[in-house]
Amino acid sequence: MGKAAPQPDLFADGAQPPPLPEGVAWYRGRLSKAEQIGLLDDAVAILQAAPLFRPRMRNGTPLINKMTNCGALGWYSDEKGYRYIAQHPETGAPWPPIPSRLSALCDAIMDELGIAGYAPDACLVNAYGAEGRLNLHQDHDEVDFRWPIVSVSLGADALFVLGGYSRKDKVLPIRLCSGDVVVLYGKGRTLFHGVKKVFPGTSPVSHPALNGLARINFTLRRAR
Ligand code: SIN
Ligand code: MN
Repeated sequence: MGKAAPQPDLFADGAQPPPLPEGVAWYRGRLSKAEQIGLLDDAVAILQAAPLFRPRMRNGTPLINKMTNCGALGWYSDEKGYRYIAQHPETGAPWPPIPSRLSALCDAIMDELGIAGYAPDACLVNAYGAEGRLNLHQDHDEVDFRWPIVSVSLGADALFVLGGYSRKDKVLPIRLCSGDVVVLYGKGRTLFHGVKKVFPGTSPVSHPALNGLARINFTLRRAR
């Protein structure tokens, strides 16, 4: 499906970025500082309408990161398991809509990848504190894996890891920076991935959305 993924630019020190698995597109520095600030403004509005909360695993253990959502559906987890829900678990309000500049970014990238008809109905907002991280996982709570995952990084750098189709597969470490966009699509859609750590103090932008937080990640999906 679609066109070839972009080849990331050389790193600042001239080093070659690693070859990525099929179905992974990494748009380094996709967003200008002004665009990053625009999306952080949107994050402030989302957090006001849908305050951050901490999902729990089935055994009741809270996840490390706080989260919230925008879009018709939002990812949630508690003792009943992982699922998508249409209302904020604490306020009962519907999730705020996906901001138009985030949809526009997603549309532009889908055009470039030659993927038609993608209409995300869910966007997870992951809020990383200085100690934030996300265990290795697959995104598999969505109905149709033919639709991509689009992930937008804002704030501090993060050590993202990209694995294979089994939890035991070797992982490729990638340092994601503010303004980077990663797409998992086609064969890449169900790859294991996670965030090993964030690097507080490395954000190229300062913004009220990042008060008390190191990094914000938006992940767009088609849940149903
Ligand atoms: C995710 O897998 O949900 C988020 C990844 C990231 O924060 O970069
Ligand atoms: Mn994920």
